[in-house]
Amino acid sequence: MWPENVGIRAIEAIFPSQFVDQTELEQFDGASAGKYTIGLGQGKMGFCSDREDVNSLCLTVVSRLLERYQIKPQEIGRLEVGTETIIDKSKSVKSVLMQLFADSGNTDIEGIDTTNACYGGTAALFNSINWIESSSWDGRYALAVCADIAVYAKGAARPTGGAGAIAMLVGPNAPLVFERGLRATHMEHAYDFYKPDLSSEYPTVDGKLSIQCYLSALDTCYQLYCKKFAKKYPQEAEFTLDNFEALLFHTPFCKLVQKSVARVVFNDFLQCSIEKRALKYPGLERFNECTLAQTYFDRDVEKAFMTQFADVFEAKTRQSLLLANQVGNMYTPSVYSGLVSLLINTPTERLIGKRIGLFSYGSGLAATMYSMQVTKDTAAFKQLVSKLDYVLPMLNSREKVAPELFSQLMEVREKNNHAAPYTPTGSVSALFPGTYYLQSVDDMHRRTYERKPTIANGVH
Ligand code: CAA
Repeated sequence: MWPENVGIRAIEAIFPSQFVDQTELEQFDGASAGKYTIGLGQGKMGFCSDREDVNSLCLTVVSRLLERYQIKPQEIGRLEVGTETIIDKSKSVKSVLMQLFADSGNTDIEGIDTTNACYGGTAALFNSINWIESSSWDGRYALAVCADIAVYAKGAARPTGGAGAIAMLVGPNAPLVFERGLRATHMEHAYDFYKPDLSSEYPTVDGKLSIQCYLSALDTCYQLYCKKFAKKYPQEAEFTLDNFEALLFHTPFCKLVQKSVARVVFNDFLQCSIEKRALKYPGLERFNECTLAQTYFDRDVEKAFMTQFADVFEAKTRQSLLLANQVGNMYTPSVYSGLVSLLINTPTERLIGKRIGLFSYGSGLAATMYSMQVTKDTAAFKQLVSKLDYVLPMLNSREKVAPELFSQLMEVREKNNHAAPYTPTGSVSALFPGTYYLQSVDDMHRRTYERKPTIANGVH
C-alpha cells in the first residue's frame, strides 16, 4: 500500500561541548564592538578540537538516535548522509556508520553520502522520503543524517563558523509530514562559496556574492513554491507568508535570516496588486516600482520591510534561531537545527495541524523551499517534542573557551588536517558523555574511534 503521512518520526541533534563567545571574539579579532553580535546576530560559536571529525559527529548522533528512541538496527533500510566536510575522497561517512549496524548483522542498508555545500542534508532527507514513497521501499525506516564542521580562515568569515550533526528518522505516519507536490527548487552554477583546496578545511568565499546568491535563490524558490501551491490548491486564496505558521531558513548567521523574512514579505508585496497594496502595506508605496533583482543590497527596502514587519519575524522565525545563535552555522544541519529550535521553543498547541515552511540553501548553488504539516495527533507530536528536552540543558552545560585557546585549537586542526599517522591532542574530558571521538589515524590514514561512556540512564 502507498505509505501515507511520510515524514520525520524522530529527530536528534548534537553540537560541540565547547564554544567561544562572540563578544570576546570581536575583541580578540580587533573587530568593532557589536559587529559579530549585533551586525551578524551571533551569540556563541561551537567548535570542535582535533578530537572530533565528521565521522565521529555522525557516529555520535546516529547511535544516540537509535538508543534514545529504541530503534533496532534491523529496522533501518536506508541511511543517507549529507555533508560538505570531506575527509576522504572515496570512502563515505555512511560506510563508517555501518560499524553501528555490524553486531545486528544488518548490512542491507541503501544510501550513501551526498555533497553540495549546506544542501547535502536536504538531498539526503529528500532521498530518504523518496525511497519510502517509491517501489523500492521494503517497509523499513530511513535515516537522514547531516553533519559538518564549519571552519573559516582568520578574517571576516571566521565568526560565521559552527559545527553539529542532526539525524532524522523518516517513515510513514509521522508527526511531521512532508507535503507532496510542494517542493520548489532552484539550482545554478555560481562561485559564491566553494572548497577547491582539498588539502584545507577552509572554503574560498565571495561573501557579498554569497549573500546575493542566497537572497536570489530565496526569491526564486518562494515564487515557485507559491505557484506550486496554487496548482495544488486551486480553490484556495493566493499563497502568502501568512500561510506558514513558521518559516525556517538555512542560517549562515542570524541577521541574514532576519533580512530574509523581510525579503519574503517584499516578495508578497510585489505579488500584490497595486490597489490592494495601500491597504495591506501602508506607507510602502514608494517601493511600488522596485524589482527583486535591483534590491539585494538596497538598504531602504531592507530597512523599511524589516522595521514594518518585525512582528512577522518575531512570530514566524525568531524561535527557530536558538541553535543558530548559540552554536553558529552547522552547514548541512543548519535548517534542521532551526526545526529543533522551533520545536523546543514553541508551545506545542500553537503548531498542531499547522504548516511549517523550510528554505534550504547550499552554495554553488542548490536551494529548495518546501513545507511540512504538523500532525493533528497532539499526543504523537508532544512525544516527539518531549524527546528534545535534553537540548537546552546540554547547551547550557557547554564549556566557554577563551578566543586565544580557540584560535590555537583551530591552528592544530589546520596543521594536522590529513596528517598520518596522527594522534589527536584535544581534550577528551571536555566532550559530552556518549560522544564518539577520534582515537588515532594510522600510517595508512585509517581512523579509529572510541566512545566516552554514557551516563547512567543512557546518554546525556
Ligand atoms: N555594530 C553593529 N553592527 C556592525 C558593526 C558594529 N560595530 N560593525 C559592522 N556591523 C554590521 C554591518 O553593518 C553589517 O550589517 P549590514 O549588512 O546589515 O549592514 C554586518 O555587521 C556585517 O558587517 P560587514 O558586512 O562589514 O561584514 P564582512 O563583510 O566583514 O563579513 C560576511 C560578513 C560576508 C557575511 C562574512 O562573515 C562571510 O563571508 N561569511 C561566510 C559566508 C556566508 O556566511 N555567506 C552567507 C550566504 S552563503 C550561505 O548561506 C552558505 C553558507 O552557509 C556559507
